[in-house]
Amino acid sequence: MAVPFVQDWDVVQTLGEGAYGEVRLLVNRQTEEAVAVKVIDTSQAEECAENVKKEICIHKILNHCNIVRFFGHRREGTTVYLFLEYCTGGELFDRIEPDVGMPERDAHRFFQQLIAAVEYLHKLGITHRDIKPENILLDDKDNLKLTDFGLATMFRFKGRERRLNRLCGTLPYVAPELLSQSEYHAQPADIWACGIVLTAMLAGELPWDQPTESCQEYADWLQRKTYLPPWKKIQPAPLRCLSSGCSKVLHNNRDFMFRASSDDRMQLSSSQPDFAAGGWEAMLVFGQSEGQVSFSQPTKPEHMLLGSQLLATPGASQSPWQKLVRRMTRFFTTVDADATLSALKDTCDALALGFKLTCRQVTLNTLDKRNNPLVFKVLLLHLNQKVLLDFRLSKGDGLEFKRLFVKIKQKLGDIVNSQKILLPVV
Ligand code: ADE
Repeated sequence: MAVPFVQDWDVVQTLGEGAYGEVRLLVNRQTEEAVAVKVIDTSQAEECAENVKKEICIHKILNHCNIVRFFGHRREGTTVYLFLEYCTGGELFDRIEPDVGMPERDAHRFFQQLIAAVEYLHKLGITHRDIKPENILLDDKDNLKLTDFGLATMFRFKGRERRLNRLCGTLPYVAPELLSQSEYHAQPADIWACGIVLTAMLAGELPWDQPTESCQEYADWLQRKTYLPPWKKIQPAPLRCLSSGCSKVLHNNRDFMFRASSDDRMQLSSSQPDFAAGGWEAMLVFGQSEGQVSFSQPTKPEHMLLGSQLLATPGASQSPWQKLVRRMTRFFTTVDADATLSALKDTCDALALGFKLTCRQVTLNTLDKRNNPLVFKVLLLHLNQKVLLDFRLSKGDGLEFKRLFVKIKQKLGDIVNSQKILLPVV
């Protein structure tokens, strides 16, 4: 039987995208409730369907104020929809000013909430394995919400811990023992990633590309050169917190050595299964209950509102759900769409960025300072007769994206309207 209040969901905007697919904002026409839906196309990779089952299985049992709530899922052909709590505050990395960070008291509070989420997971025997600012969202009261359980797994069951061997996560955030040892303990690896997030919040930069001695910044840190950035930007108390955290982590791994380069392990890990068949993972009972929450078909193209239409809706008819995700990476221009696009093209050429225009959207392409691909989209929207450029990360490091955004905005200088974006809906 259809539940009345879950009928008629409109897709309002795309909130984010990643390797898996997209996250979109759905709003219920009757109740005006908002939920985020993560759309995963499982046909893209062989192991994808199993991974999504595991993600669902783990995420659905979680119930903590600092973890994005999982409402249900629905499968249609090879597409799986995960219905999640909508976080209006956007991503944590949007609060980090490149090379600066954020006020220490904000970082302190976010860090406490992050640790509360991780402690909760670890008590349940679950490890996240991809903690980073891009996977940390904020709600309307600026409460932190950890999300994306696509790499999460169980490391403890009935009091027995197993060590993990799969190399996964995001290199700047991974703990050194993942790259140097064949097996690692789950908990210190998550805690290490929390330390890197704290560093990013306090200094606005990541300390290294990866924690191997071949990486100069990491070698410097091992030699306690805290007079170098990012450490020199961090006050003594949080710096002590960071170093006591990591010495505990390192202490847990007393045989910690740099034996293999990350590349060796990359090859190794791709040929190693994550777990033995019938082993630990079998203890996770994979979700049999299809669509426990009876959401109606979430994607109805004919009901889709264009971003510009939504933004242009007059304030009076707006309701609380229409608080759009707060973003720092957008601005109005002082010229029309054609002039905006041509200025953007010139700026991208000057910065040697790849530029591809499709419809109302531009895809920019480059390598960041660590030589990692950085891809982002720029949406061109019309709002109150003005042109709004909305930048979104598609692939790469969130901080590098923000750095480049700031550069582009500076270069566009004279066509940037410095007026604060007070959308009628915020
Ligand atoms: N981006 C990715 N997931 C999201 C969510 N649950 N709420 C808001 N923005 C998101």
